[in-house]
Amino acid sequence: MTDASRPTGPNRRSVLKGGAAGTAAIGLAAHAGAQQPEGAKANPADQHRLQLTTTINGEQRRLDIDARQTLLDTLRHDLQLTGSKKGCDHGQCGACTVLMDGERVLSCLTLAAQANGREIITIEGLGADGLHPMQQAFIDNDAFQCGYCTPGQIMSA
Ligand code: FES
Repeated sequence: MTDASRPTGPNRRSVLKGGAAGTAAIGLAAHAGAQQPEGAKANPADQHRLQLTTTINGEQRRLDIDARQTLLDTLRHDLQLTGSKKGCDHGQCGACTVLMDGERVLSCLTLAAQANGREIITIEGLGADGLHPMQQAFIDNDAFQCGYCTPGQIMSA
């Protein structure tokens, strides 16, 4: 493949490099005790721990997490919100899609630390007052296949 035939713009390698740089930056901030998200603090016993405050499905939550963990793992394992699914865990399938401050994000590529001070809505919070119109539309149009990625599709839509 010649340089002229190579695609331009972001590619998987550059995105992964960017993600690794972001993770390293947060790790360094936690280590130095500086430039951490508001409310975050390093635990002397484990320099990778941090505390953050976020609103999840309308409920303010204070979390003590590993700074390296993803938002998806935090939702599923720490908060037992298992509606967001882990499909590829590489930002390719969308099964993990949630809303952060009203914008869709892939929670498998989002560090939980990035949720500090932000509002997260998962599929569990979407229909808190009955079915969301998009959920109803999926039912009305029999839009389910196996159903595994349906929460991500609904959140993305
Ligand atoms: Fe596939 Fe996040 S799990 S994009």
